[in-house]
Amino acid sequence: MIDSTSMIKVKDLVRKYGEVTAVDSVSFEIAPGEIVGLLGHNGAGKTTLMRILTSYLPATSGEVLIGGKDVRENSLAVRRKIGYLPETPPLYPDMNVRDFLAYAARLKDAPAADVDRVLAECDLADAADKVIGTLSKGFKQRVGIAQAILNDPELLILDEPTSGLDPVQVRQVRKLITNLKEKRTVLLSTHVLSEIEHMAQRVLIIKAGKIIADESLNTLLTGAEGEQEIVIRMNGDGDDAVRKIRDLRLPGVETIEVRKLQQSLESVFIKLNE
Ligand SMILES: Nc1ncnc2c1ncn2[C@@H]1O[C@H](COP(=O)(O)OP(=O)(O)OP(=O)(O)O)[C@@H](O)[C@H]1O
Ligand SMILES: [Mg+2]
Repeated sequence: MIDSTSMIKVKDLVRKYGEVTAVDSVSFEIAPGEIVGLLGHNGAGKTTLMRILTSYLPATSGEVLIGGKDVRENSLAVRRKIGYLPETPPLYPDMNVRDFLAYAARLKDAPAADVDRVLAECDLADAADKVIGTLSKGFKQRVGIAQAILNDPELLILDEPTSGLDPVQVRQVRKLITNLKEKRTVLLSTHVLSEIEHMAQRVLIIKAGKIIADESLNTLLTGAEGEQEIVIRMNGDGDDAVRKIRDLRLPGVETIEVRKLQQSLESVFIKLNE
């Protein structure tokens, strides 16, 4: 059954490399407009999953629908719909930045004016005439992001978009993703957990090819297993607080409140991977 309400629908997806099962019975759906972070340790299967979604790698079994279309049967249409930043962006080292983006724009049927837009959005205007092979890693990454957002795709699949970027550029990429027009769907992988906290509303955690969590960021961080803390406000010096907690009648204790402690995404991630 085709579900046209999902931008991405994945069902029982498996990808094997010989003996290694890189993606193991994965199922999930992403609705239009969602920004979803894909988290997982090295080798968890993030890149393999993204390559299957973008139709660059065939699955061993299972089903992937992008905008209701099966990726195997509509690989060209699917690739046109998606802006994809691969783990290693396929750049032409001998071309300059502007010529490469103009070439990529032609392949995607994007208007020529789009090249100037993406150069500006990725802060590449000053590097437009430089040869790609001479650029630093971070600048190459920006060119990869620039080609992904050509033609304003409905769906962006970004494999570690902030890898190799300096903090200023990381902030710009974050802004770029959060400023995308409504109904733009984004799936991004990252190792930088704080990035997900800033950009995504939902998190998929993949471990050894299996999805071990699929939650809204909020639920994940304040879930049933959230720890509690007792906060005691005291007059004066709090050095001997622990001893004083044993006797709440001590003078100087004003208020006692119990509240749920928000876990960091990092601690949830580490716990889930234990
Ligand atoms: N071309 C390949 N041939 C054989 N095994 C592969 C191939 N590509 C990936 N694998 C294996 O599949 C598993 C998943 O790899 P994948 O690159 O998808 O992980 P990842 O989550 O993207 O990791 P990283 O965070 O390091 O980028 C790993 O065990 C990896 O060794
Ligand atoms: Mg990877």
